[in-house]
Amino acid sequence: MAGSDATSMLGSVPMFGGLSDKSVKAIASQGKELTYNAGDTIVNEGSIGVGFYLLLDGKAEVRKGGRVLATLGRGQFFGEMSLIDELPRSADVVAVAPTKCWALTSWAFSGLVNAHPEISLAMLKELVKRLRAAQSSPTS
Ligand code: CMP
Repeated sequence: MAGSDATSMLGSVPMFGGLSDKSVKAIASQGKELTYNAGDTIVNEGSIGVGFYLLLDGKAEVRKGGRVLATLGRGQFFGEMSLIDELPRSADVVAVAPTKCWALTSWAFSGLVNAHPEISLAMLKELVKRLRAAQSSPTS
């Protein structure tokens, strides 16, 4: 069960911006809150993706081949890539502080995007931002 933490948080993140309070409440109840300690791996590179995650609190690093690709904080999401293209997880995501996430199953994620297409656009905006950051980061 996702508590009021998730509801109030979801209403304030860009991905769900513009949705009514009622929709946000309904969406929040579809996911569940998961907690992690610093050092816990939330998502494993190469594994099959079954969940979408929104960071409610804490901090997580996206790591690939020993390199930190990004640091994600409150209000940011991860795990969408595998759910979109059905390929294995592209990177590890590791909690680097005590971290709380709101997690959705892949089928709930599809239902959500179908029911609220504006969520796709908000996600695309974030993905473009990540692509630009990747383009400007030094290559090894
Ligand atoms: P997925 O491939 O399902 O699992 C690993 C996740 O890490 C991925 O989805 C994205 O959510 C996230 N991720 C991968 N590469 C980057 C990046 N360059 N910047 C930010 N997040 C990323």
